[in-house]
Amino acid sequence: MNRIAYVNGQYTAHHAAAVHVEDRGYQFSDGVYEVIPVVAGKQIDSVGHMERLARSLSELRIPAPMSERAMNLVINEVIRRNRVRNGYVYLQVTRGVAPRDHAFPTDPDSALVIYARPKSSAARKSNAETGVAVITVPDQRWARRDIKTVSLLPNCLAKQAAKEAGAYEAFMYDREGMITEGSSTNAWIVDQEGRLITRPASNDILNGVTRLALMALVEEAGLEIVERPFSVEELRSAREVFLTSSSGMATPVVKVDDRVIGNGRPGSVTCGIMERFESYVSGDETEIAAGRISA
Ligand code: PDD
Repeated sequence: MNRIAYVNGQYTAHHAAAVHVEDRGYQFSDGVYEVIPVVAGKQIDSVGHMERLARSLSELRIPAPMSERAMNLVINEVIRRNRVRNGYVYLQVTRGVAPRDHAFPTDPDSALVIYARPKSSAARKSNAETGVAVITVPDQRWARRDIKTVSLLPNCLAKQAAKEAGAYEAFMYDREGMITEGSSTNAWIVDQEGRLITRPASNDILNGVTRLALMALVEEAGLEIVERPFSVEELRSAREVFLTSSSGMATPVVKVDDRVIGNGRPGSVTCGIMERFESYVSGDETEIAAGRISA
């Protein structure tokens, strides 16, 4: 099947989809993005993703390329034209094309790229059964990790280190030895009392839409969540560890560096959460994270 991408107002063959050499996203990482999961043809938490996109754009003073309503129509059209049942939508907005100058152009025309890709749930399901390994690495990123920018080089270096170590993800730690998040995921632990612990939303981490959806699901289930930073040592000795992201939903972690977590199998709290998530994404409600991204 011929894949189609949306680039600045046009639906184009994916292999020919391209942006200008002086696009500020290409030259300065002057842009933001979203990854929205698609399950059974429906976007999951599209409102939460649009809210976070609006926040990222406004923090960087990049004008929205079109209204949210119009953008949603384009997203659904891209899903339809690519016949994606299960997969994800990638959406990127940059400050547009302008002669190279670090300062903003005076009258920017934001550039918008949207494409969709099918992805089987097989890898996610196998990770859910066996659990994955993570390593810990120093966090080398800038001070505004709450903005979902395309400036992902430290994240790429961290993920590559994980890959070379035979691990699935790298959890990053700050100068105080406290975990911030994964290179493309949010980090969670379960303490001995069965409480879920995750770092509070601040400039230190990206406030994951999956993180917010999980909070809503867990509140319904009556599990306790404590939002506080946790150390590398706490992570290594946690009862359970898991990570969240749009592509992996909730994924159990069974090894951190050279330490096995629990009995080396996904723990019962994490399994309960994964079950809730599966029934959420396969049910009728799709906007449980809406209204949870704060300004
Ligand atoms: N990554 N933290 C970072 C640094 C991320 O890049 C992501 C998402 C998350 C989880 O956010 P969410 O639950 O909204 O997906 C946390 C996406 C999936 C990516 O870059 O592919």
